[in-house]
Amino acid sequence: MANSCSCFSFLLLLLFFHFSFGRSQLEVNYYSKSCPRAEEIIKEQVTQLYHKHGNTAVSWLRNLFHDCMKSCDASLLLTSANGVVSEQTSSRSFGMRNFKYVNTIKDALERQCPSTVSCADIVALSARDAILLLGGPRIEMKTGRRDSKQSYLPVEDFIPNHNDSISLVLSTFESIGLDVEATVALLGGHSVGRVHCVNMVDRLYPTVDPTLDPKHAQYLKRRCPTPNPDPKAVLYARNDLDTPMIIDNQYYKHILAHKGLLHVDAELATDPRTSPFVQNMASDNDYFLQQFSRAILTLSEADPLTGDLGEIRKDCRFVNPS
Ligand code: HEM
Ligand SMILES: *[C@@H]1O[C@H](CO)[C@@H](O)[C@H](O)[C@H]1NC(C)=O
Repeated sequence: MANSCSCFSFLLLLLFFHFSFGRSQLEVNYYSKSCPRAEEIIKEQVTQLYHKHGNTAVSWLRNLFHDCMKSCDASLLLTSANGVVSEQTSSRSFGMRNFKYVNTIKDALERQCPSTVSCADIVALSARDAILLLGGPRIEMKTGRRDSKQSYLPVEDFIPNHNDSISLVLSTFESIGLDVEATVALLGGHSVGRVHCVNMVDRLYPTVDPTLDPKHAQYLKRRCPTPNPDPKAVLYARNDLDTPMIIDNQYYKHILAHKGLLHVDAELATDPRTSPFVQNMASDNDYFLQQFSRAILTLSEADPLTGDLGEIRKDCRFVNPS
Protein backbone atom coordinates (compact mmCIF):
# COMPACT_ATOMS: atom_id res chain seq x y z
CA MET A 1 0.00 0.00 0.00
CA ALA A 2 2.78 2.43 0.96
CA ASN A 3 4.50 1.52 -2.29
CA SER A 4 1.59 2.13 -4.62
CA CYS A 5 0.98 5.35 -2.77
CA SER A 6 4.49 6.68 -3.36
CA CYS A 7 4.25 5.46 -6.93
CA PHE A 8 1.08 7.48 -7.31
CA SER A 9 2.67 10.60 -5.84
CA PHE A 10 5.59 10.09 -8.18
CA LEU A 11 3.20 10.04 -11.14
CA LEU A 12 1.50 13.16 -9.86
CA LEU A 13 4.89 14.81 -9.57
CA LEU A 14 5.72 13.82 -13.17
CA LEU A 15 2.39 15.25 -14.33
CA PHE A 16 3.07 18.43 -12.39
CA PHE A 17 6.47 18.86 -14.01
CA HIS A 18 5.01 18.07 -17.40
CA PHE A 19 2.36 20.75 -17.17
CA SER A 20 4.19 23.41 -15.28
CA PHE A 21 7.52 23.26 -17.08
CA GLY A 22 7.40 20.72 -19.89
CA ARG A 23 5.19 22.58 -22.27
CA SER A 24 6.57 26.02 -21.64
CA GLN A 25 9.93 25.43 -23.26
CA LEU A 26 11.43 26.53 -26.53
CA GLU A 27 12.19 23.61 -28.85
CA VAL A 28 14.47 22.88 -31.76
CA ASN A 29 12.31 22.97 -34.91
CA TYR A 30 9.10 23.83 -33.08
CA TYR A 31 7.27 24.34 -36.41
CA SER A 32 8.29 20.96 -37.89
CA LYS A 33 4.65 19.79 -38.02
CA SER A 34 2.64 23.03 -38.06
CA CYS A 35 4.74 24.85 -40.68
CA PRO A 36 7.65 22.72 -41.86
CA ARG A 37 9.10 25.40 -44.16
CA ALA A 38 8.88 28.22 -41.58
CA GLU A 39 12.60 28.59 -41.01
CA GLU A 40 13.36 28.34 -44.73
CA ILE A 41 10.76 30.97 -45.58
CA ILE A 42 12.26 33.38 -43.07
CA LYS A 43 15.74 32.72 -44.41
CA GLU A 44 14.60 33.27 -48.01
CA GLN A 45 12.96 36.57 -47.12
CA VAL A 46 15.87 37.80 -44.99
CA THR A 47 18.27 36.93 -47.82
CA GLN A 48 16.18 38.66 -50.51
CA LEU A 49 15.80 41.74 -48.35
CA TYR A 50 19.54 41.78 -47.65
CA HIS A 51 20.29 41.81 -51.37
CA LYS A 52 17.88 44.72 -51.93
CA HIS A 53 18.59 46.68 -48.74
CA GLY A 54 21.73 45.43 -47.01
CA ASN A 55 21.02 47.41 -43.88
CA THR A 56 17.91 45.33 -43.11
CA ALA A 57 20.32 42.69 -41.77
CA VAL A 58 21.84 45.26 -39.43
CA SER A 59 18.35 46.16 -38.22
CA TRP A 60 17.43 42.54 -37.46
CA LEU A 61 20.45 42.31 -35.17
CA ARG A 62 19.56 45.49 -33.30
CA ASN A 63 15.92 44.37 -33.07
CA LEU A 64 16.95 41.22 -31.20
CA PHE A 65 18.75 43.34 -28.61
CA HIS A 66 15.88 45.78 -28.11
CA ASP A 67 13.18 43.11 -28.04
CA CYS A 68 14.89 40.50 -25.88
CA MET A 69 16.33 42.66 -23.09
CA LYS A 70 12.86 42.56 -21.56
CA SER A 71 11.36 39.39 -23.07
CA CYS A 72 11.71 37.89 -26.56
CA ASP A 73 8.07 38.45 -27.41
CA ALA A 74 8.02 40.97 -30.30
CA SER A 75 6.75 43.74 -28.00
CA LEU A 76 9.18 45.97 -29.92
CA LEU A 77 7.24 45.50 -33.17
CA LEU A 78 3.93 46.88 -31.87
CA THR A 79 3.15 50.30 -33.32
CA SER A 80 1.14 52.92 -31.45
CA ALA A 81 -2.54 52.04 -31.89
CA ASN A 82 -5.57 50.93 -29.86
CA GLY A 83 -4.14 52.06 -26.54
CA VAL A 84 -0.65 50.68 -27.17
CA VAL A 85 2.24 53.15 -27.08
CA SER A 86 5.07 51.75 -29.18
CA GLU A 87 8.53 51.07 -27.73
CA GLN A 88 9.77 52.50 -31.01
CA THR A 89 8.77 55.99 -29.80
CA SER A 90 11.42 55.93 -27.05
CA SER A 91 14.59 57.96 -27.59
CA ARG A 92 16.48 54.70 -26.96
CA SER A 93 15.06 53.48 -30.28
CA PHE A 94 16.54 56.43 -32.18
CA GLY A 95 17.72 55.41 -35.64
CA MET A 96 15.91 52.06 -35.70
CA ARG A 97 14.75 51.37 -39.24
CA ASN A 98 13.31 48.81 -41.65
CA PHE A 99 10.36 47.80 -39.49
CA LYS A 100 8.17 47.81 -42.60
CA TYR A 101 10.18 44.89 -43.99
CA VAL A 102 9.24 42.72 -41.00
CA ASN A 103 5.80 42.72 -42.62
CA THR A 104 7.36 41.34 -45.82
CA ILE A 105 8.67 38.36 -43.86
CA LYS A 106 5.43 37.90 -41.94
CA ASP A 107 3.32 38.10 -45.13
CA ALA A 108 5.35 35.32 -46.72
CA LEU A 109 4.74 33.14 -43.65
CA GLU A 110 1.03 33.97 -43.48
CA ARG A 111 0.59 32.90 -47.11
CA GLN A 112 1.86 29.40 -46.30
CA CYS A 113 0.86 28.96 -42.65
CA PRO A 114 -1.74 31.46 -41.47
CA SER A 115 -1.60 32.47 -37.78
CA THR A 116 1.09 29.91 -37.01
CA VAL A 117 4.54 31.48 -36.80
CA SER A 118 5.02 34.13 -34.12
CA CYS A 119 6.49 37.57 -34.66
CA ALA A 120 8.81 36.84 -31.74
CA ASP A 121 10.30 33.89 -33.65
CA ILE A 122 10.66 36.19 -36.68
CA VAL A 123 12.67 38.60 -34.51
CA ALA A 124 14.92 35.76 -33.33
CA LEU A 125 15.37 33.88 -36.60
CA SER A 126 15.77 37.00 -38.76
CA ALA A 127 18.61 38.07 -36.43
CA ARG A 128 20.13 34.60 -36.68
CA ASP A 129 19.99 34.62 -40.49
CA ALA A 130 21.19 38.24 -40.67
CA ILE A 131 24.24 37.43 -38.54
CA LEU A 132 25.25 34.76 -41.06
CA LEU A 133 24.74 37.15 -44.02
CA LEU A 134 26.91 39.71 -42.21
CA GLY A 135 29.76 37.22 -42.08
CA GLY A 136 29.08 36.14 -38.52
CA PRO A 137 28.64 32.65 -37.08
CA ARG A 138 25.90 30.14 -37.86
CA ILE A 139 23.75 29.87 -34.73
CA GLU A 140 21.29 27.08 -33.92
CA MET A 141 18.19 28.60 -32.34
CA LYS A 142 15.14 27.10 -30.70
CA THR A 143 11.64 28.31 -31.57
CA GLY A 144 8.20 28.44 -30.00
CA ARG A 145 8.22 32.01 -28.70
CA ARG A 146 4.81 33.68 -28.56
CA ASP A 147 3.84 37.31 -29.01
CA SER A 148 3.09 39.82 -26.27
CA LYS A 149 -0.18 41.69 -26.08
CA GLN A 150 1.53 44.79 -24.77
CA SER A 151 4.57 46.99 -25.13
CA TYR A 152 6.88 47.76 -22.20
CA LEU A 153 7.51 51.40 -21.46
CA PRO A 154 9.68 52.98 -20.29
CA VAL A 155 12.29 50.92 -22.14
CA GLU A 156 14.90 52.95 -20.24
CA ASP A 157 14.47 50.36 -17.49
CA PHE A 158 16.06 47.62 -19.60
CA ILE A 159 17.83 49.26 -22.59
CA PRO A 160 21.01 51.06 -21.50
CA ASN A 161 21.85 54.56 -22.80
CA HIS A 162 24.88 55.46 -24.94
CA ASN A 163 26.50 57.24 -22.00
CA ASP A 164 25.62 54.90 -19.12
CA SER A 165 28.31 53.66 -16.76
CA ILE A 166 29.79 50.28 -17.53
CA SER A 167 28.66 49.08 -14.08
CA LEU A 168 25.05 49.77 -15.00
CA VAL A 169 25.52 48.14 -18.41
CA LEU A 170 27.03 45.00 -16.84
CA SER A 171 24.30 44.66 -14.23
CA THR A 172 21.57 45.15 -16.84
CA PHE A 173 22.94 42.36 -19.01
CA GLU A 174 23.62 40.18 -15.97
CA SER A 175 19.92 40.37 -15.12
CA ILE A 176 19.15 38.33 -18.25
CA GLY A 177 21.91 35.82 -17.62
CA LEU A 178 24.78 37.38 -19.58
CA ASP A 179 28.14 37.34 -17.80
CA VAL A 180 30.87 39.94 -18.40
CA GLU A 181 32.52 37.92 -21.18
CA ALA A 182 29.19 37.48 -23.00
CA THR A 183 28.33 41.16 -22.59
CA VAL A 184 31.66 42.21 -24.08
CA ALA A 185 31.04 39.84 -27.00
CA LEU A 186 27.50 41.12 -27.55
CA LEU A 187 28.67 44.71 -27.88
CA GLY A 188 30.55 43.40 -30.92
CA GLY A 189 27.18 44.00 -32.60
CA HIS A 190 28.57 47.51 -32.93
CA SER A 191 30.96 46.29 -35.59
CA VAL A 192 28.14 46.97 -38.07
CA GLY A 193 25.76 49.87 -38.70
CA ARG A 194 25.80 53.51 -37.80
CA VAL A 195 25.46 56.04 -34.99
CA HIS A 196 23.65 59.35 -35.40
CA CYS A 197 25.23 62.56 -34.20
CA VAL A 198 22.72 63.00 -31.36
CA ASN A 199 24.29 59.96 -29.71
CA MET A 200 27.86 61.25 -30.07
CA VAL A 201 27.92 65.04 -29.75
CA ASP A 202 28.36 64.94 -25.99
CA ARG A 203 31.82 63.42 -26.66
CA LEU A 204 32.72 66.18 -29.13
CA TYR A 205 31.28 69.42 -27.67
CA PRO A 206 31.98 71.70 -25.89
CA THR A 207 35.31 69.91 -25.55
CA VAL A 208 36.49 66.69 -27.12
CA ASP A 209 36.45 63.66 -24.80
CA PRO A 210 40.17 63.26 -23.96
CA THR A 211 39.84 59.47 -24.28
CA LEU A 212 39.06 59.84 -28.02
CA ASP A 213 41.87 59.53 -30.55
CA PRO A 214 42.41 63.17 -31.74
CA LYS A 215 42.42 62.30 -35.44
CA HIS A 216 39.28 60.24 -35.09
CA ALA A 217 37.68 63.09 -33.14
CA GLN A 218 38.42 65.41 -36.08
CA TYR A 219 36.74 62.98 -38.44
CA LEU A 220 33.72 62.74 -36.15
CA LYS A 221 33.48 66.52 -35.90
CA ARG A 222 33.42 66.70 -39.69
CA ARG A 223 30.55 64.20 -39.65
CA CYS A 224 28.82 66.06 -36.81
CA PRO A 225 29.66 69.75 -37.25
CA THR A 226 27.28 71.19 -34.63
CA PRO A 227 26.66 70.44 -30.96
CA ASN A 228 22.89 70.48 -31.49
CA PRO A 229 22.14 68.26 -34.44
CA ASP A 230 18.67 68.50 -35.87
CA PRO A 231 17.06 65.28 -34.61
CA LYS A 232 15.39 64.89 -38.00
CA ALA A 233 18.64 65.25 -39.93
CA VAL A 234 20.34 62.01 -40.80
CA LEU A 235 23.87 62.91 -39.80
CA TYR A 236 25.69 59.82 -38.73
CA ALA A 237 29.02 58.03 -38.64
CA ARG A 238 29.75 54.41 -39.38
CA ASN A 239 30.54 52.17 -36.46
CA ASP A 240 33.35 50.43 -38.30
CA LEU A 241 34.87 52.27 -41.25
CA ASP A 242 36.95 49.33 -42.44
CA THR A 243 34.35 46.54 -42.50
CA PRO A 244 31.01 48.32 -41.92
CA MET A 245 28.87 45.37 -42.97
CA ILE A 246 30.85 42.51 -41.40
CA ILE A 247 30.48 41.17 -37.89
CA ASP A 248 34.09 40.75 -36.85
CA ASN A 249 36.56 41.71 -34.15
CA GLN A 250 37.48 44.99 -35.86
CA TYR A 251 35.23 46.68 -33.28
CA TYR A 252 37.59 45.63 -30.45
CA LYS A 253 40.67 46.84 -32.34
CA HIS A 254 38.92 50.17 -32.82
CA ILE A 255 37.91 50.68 -29.24
CA LEU A 256 41.42 49.77 -28.06
CA ALA A 257 42.71 52.43 -30.49
CA HIS A 258 40.35 54.96 -28.83
CA LYS A 259 38.08 55.11 -31.88
CA GLY A 260 34.87 53.94 -30.24
CA LEU A 261 31.83 56.01 -31.15
CA LEU A 262 29.70 55.73 -28.02
CA HIS A 263 30.77 56.41 -24.48
CA VAL A 264 29.87 52.79 -23.57
CA ASP A 265 32.12 51.50 -26.38
CA ALA A 266 35.03 53.55 -25.05
CA GLU A 267 34.43 52.42 -21.46
CA LEU A 268 34.45 48.76 -22.51
CA ALA A 269 38.06 49.08 -23.62
CA THR A 270 39.28 50.70 -20.40
CA ASP A 271 37.27 49.25 -17.53
CA PRO A 272 39.37 46.63 -15.69
CA ARG A 273 36.45 44.16 -15.66
CA THR A 274 35.93 44.25 -19.41
CA SER A 275 39.28 45.21 -20.96
CA PRO A 276 40.93 41.76 -20.63
CA PHE A 277 38.08 40.28 -22.72
CA VAL A 278 38.31 43.19 -25.19
CA GLN A 279 42.01 42.48 -25.66
CA ASN A 280 41.45 38.76 -26.21
CA MET A 281 38.63 39.37 -28.67
CA ALA A 282 40.72 41.97 -30.55
CA SER A 283 43.49 39.45 -31.03
CA ASP A 284 41.39 36.34 -31.77
CA ASN A 285 38.41 36.58 -34.14
CA ASP A 286 37.42 32.91 -33.65
CA TYR A 287 37.24 33.39 -29.90
CA PHE A 288 35.10 36.51 -30.43
CA LEU A 289 32.71 34.70 -32.79
CA GLN A 290 32.37 31.78 -30.39
CA GLN A 291 31.50 34.08 -27.48
CA PHE A 292 29.24 36.16 -29.71
CA SER A 293 27.26 32.99 -30.63
CA ARG A 294 26.89 32.02 -27.02
CA ALA A 295 25.75 35.51 -26.05
CA ILE A 296 23.25 35.85 -28.93
CA LEU A 297 21.76 32.48 -28.00
CA THR A 298 21.28 33.50 -24.38
CA LEU A 299 19.81 36.84 -25.45
CA SER A 300 17.42 35.10 -27.85
CA GLU A 301 16.05 32.93 -25.05
CA ALA A 302 15.50 35.69 -22.52
CA ASP A 303 12.18 35.19 -20.76
CA PRO A 304 10.06 34.24 -23.81
CA LEU A 305 6.31 33.75 -23.69
CA THR A 306 5.56 30.08 -24.40
CA GLY A 307 2.75 27.55 -24.02
CA ASP A 308 -0.58 29.28 -23.54
CA LEU A 309 0.92 32.70 -22.84
CA GLY A 310 0.61 35.54 -25.32
CA GLU A 311 -0.66 34.91 -28.84
CA ILE A 312 0.41 34.44 -32.44
CA ARG A 313 -0.08 37.86 -33.96
CA LYS A 314 -1.60 37.99 -37.41
CA ASP A 315 0.09 41.33 -38.12
CA CYS A 316 3.29 42.00 -36.20
CA ARG A 317 2.36 45.66 -35.75
CA PHE A 318 -0.89 45.03 -33.87
CA VAL A 319 -2.29 42.92 -31.08
CA ASN A 320 -4.94 40.57 -32.54
CA PRO A 321 -8.47 41.98 -32.30
CA SER A 322 -10.30 40.20 -29.49
C1 HEM B 1 25.13 49.01 -23.61
C2 HEM B 1 24.44 48.51 -24.57
C3 HEM B 1 24.12 49.25 -25.83
C4 HEM B 1 23.92 50.58 -26.04
C5 HEM B 1 23.95 51.70 -25.04
C6 HEM B 1 23.64 50.75 -27.44
C7 HEM B 1 23.40 51.94 -28.07
C8 HEM B 1 23.30 52.12 -29.43
C9 HEM B 1 23.17 53.41 -30.08
C10 HEM B 1 23.06 54.75 -29.37
C11 HEM B 1 23.16 53.18 -31.42
C12 HEM B 1 23.08 54.24 -32.52
C13 HEM B 1 21.65 54.52 -32.93
C14 HEM B 1 21.63 55.65 -33.93
O1 HEM B 1 22.08 56.75 -33.59
O2 HEM B 1 21.15 55.44 -35.06
C15 HEM B 1 23.29 51.76 -31.62
C16 HEM B 1 23.32 51.14 -32.84
C17 HEM B 1 23.34 49.78 -33.01
N1 HEM B 1 23.36 48.85 -32.03
FE1 HEM B 1 23.58 49.18 -30.06
N2 HEM B 1 23.70 49.53 -28.06
C18 HEM B 1 23.99 48.58 -27.12
C19 HEM B 1 24.10 47.24 -27.31
C20 HEM B 1 23.86 46.60 -28.50
C21 HEM B 1 23.78 45.16 -28.65
C22 HEM B 1 23.90 44.15 -27.54
C23 HEM B 1 23.54 44.93 -29.98
C24 HEM B 1 23.37 43.62 -30.69
C25 HEM B 1 23.94 42.52 -30.35
C26 HEM B 1 23.50 46.22 -30.64
C27 HEM B 1 23.33 46.40 -31.99
C28 HEM B 1 23.33 47.62 -32.62
C29 HEM B 1 23.34 47.76 -34.06
C30 HEM B 1 23.37 46.63 -35.10
C31 HEM B 1 23.34 49.13 -34.32
C32 HEM B 1 23.34 49.82 -35.70
C33 HEM B 1 21.91 50.04 -36.16
C34 HEM B 1 21.79 50.63 -37.56
O3 HEM B 1 22.79 50.99 -38.18
O4 HEM B 1 20.64 50.69 -38.03
N3 HEM B 1 23.67 47.20 -29.70
N4 HEM B 1 23.37 51.15 -30.38
C1 LIG C 1 23.42 61.16 -21.54
O1 LIG C 1 23.00 61.69 -22.79
C2 LIG C 1 21.71 62.27 -22.77
C3 LIG C 1 21.39 62.72 -24.19
O2 LIG C 1 21.38 61.64 -25.06
C4 LIG C 1 21.69 63.45 -21.79
O3 LIG C 1 20.38 63.99 -21.71
C5 LIG C 1 22.13 62.97 -20.42
O4 LIG C 1 22.24 64.08 -19.54
C6 LIG C 1 23.47 62.24 -20.50
N1 LIG C 1 23.78 61.66 -19.20
C7 LIG C 1 24.97 61.76 -18.62
C8 LIG C 1 25.14 61.02 -17.33
O5 LIG C 1 25.88 62.41 -19.12
